[in-house]
Amino acid sequence: MTSPASGGGCPVQRPEPGTVPLSGPRFHTDPQHLYNEMRREHGAVVAVELPGGVPAWLVIGYREMHQVTNSPELFPRDVSLWNQWGNIPADWPLLPMVGQPMPSIYFTAGAEHRRHVAMVEPALEAVDPFHLRRVCEELADQLIDGFCGRGTADLVADFAEPLPVLVLAGLLGLPDEDGADLARTMKVMADGGADAQAAYLRFMQHMQRLVAMKKARPGDDLVSRMLADPMPFTDEEYANDLMAITAAGHLPTCDWLGNSMRLMLTDDRFAAALGGGRRSVGQAMNEVLWEDTPTQILAGRWAARDTRLGDKVIRAGDMLLLGLAAANGDPHVRQHVSEAVHTGNNAHFAFSHGEYRCPFAAQHLAEIIARTGIEVLLDRLPDMDLAVPAQNLVRRPSPFLRGMTSLPVVFTPVRAVGGFQ
Ligand code: HEM
Repeated sequence: MTSPASGGGCPVQRPEPGTVPLSGPRFHTDPQHLYNEMRREHGAVVAVELPGGVPAWLVIGYREMHQVTNSPELFPRDVSLWNQWGNIPADWPLLPMVGQPMPSIYFTAGAEHRRHVAMVEPALEAVDPFHLRRVCEELADQLIDGFCGRGTADLVADFAEPLPVLVLAGLLGLPDEDGADLARTMKVMADGGADAQAAYLRFMQHMQRLVAMKKARPGDDLVSRMLADPMPFTDEEYANDLMAITAAGHLPTCDWLGNSMRLMLTDDRFAAALGGGRRSVGQAMNEVLWEDTPTQILAGRWAARDTRLGDKVIRAGDMLLLGLAAANGDPHVRQHVSEAVHTGNNAHFAFSHGEYRCPFAAQHLAEIIARTGIEVLLDRLPDMDLAVPAQNLVRRPSPFLRGMTSLPVVFTPVRAVGGFQ
């Protein structure tokens, strides 16, 4: 792979002896014990090895995570600084996630990133929460209509996966039939099979067509608001930003919804909510952000110069992976966590922190989508129960994402409400 930074003169680092491979089932079966072991053996900043022997630092300390995310000049989210570009083959499996520099809110840093934020954030903030909630209710009802007569469902494939992308498609102003195709496309991309690359191209084409369509005929939607911003952007930048918004919003919201449903279905403390009460939905969702957060590890940040972090020496161009789940579970903050969960404290790292964190408006949208989805499910299928023993539930096989591969449930069959069947 040609390197944006290969001429930068940084000595290429090889993994130190004793580095921890960032792979293996414990990242999804038993992550907090694994992080505690790492903490004991390696401290708050751990030398890890990515597939292909690529070195990185995994930040697992709460304090160190604050230090990194609060220092965007020293640790920008700027992949072009990476001192490993010369060692990365074009088919490296993590390349789509780590990112190749492309001009969007997600793959820019510093002033250029702030330029994108200044256009995207106000467009997200202008979404009417009451309208959004109504749209979520309608889409949730339609999805439930598709399986409510069966008495069984997979809450991930049938509900948690399609709901956020269909809602996002509506917010963007995609016509309904394109929204359904976008949902299928995102699923193929998330599954990461042989056709994932083709799905990515289709995703890009959807967004390019949408930009052209809204330029010709603006409406009351997110894309038209972005286009109306007086700051000039190219069509490619608009399309890239739309891809970033959709990709950043889709799976985390799906997993927030799915992990919260898993918690409510497996933990007796939430049984009352399933029986018709709604009070603990918010509590389950907040507990998930602390204990079972959708973005477990995030790539990443890149050091702008040599520095120290914890007890480690970080070289210019080193990649830092943000261990968001590990920081939430750091014993230094742990004693406050159960209190935090109950009081709705949101000092967790689920949405990251600092200049590159998930925009507050996006966090609010995600909360409305996940909460409305759960509430409609509980209203429509109040006697829902797991169809398999809790210990048989399987996590996504990824150290980076934390969600369920499926969530099979049974319930008393009920009639569709929208005339869909
Ligand atoms: C409607 C749903 C959502 C939308 C539209 C959305 C949008 C975005 C965008 C545009 C960014 C890039 C921000 C920037 O570079 O300035 C971002 C980053 C991020 N989002 Fe979200 N997001 C959504 C839901 C979520 C959820 C549910 C989670 C986790 C619970 C989450 C976690 C994150 C994280 C960890 C980052 C990376 C921040 C960093 O690099 O420090 N997002 N999101």
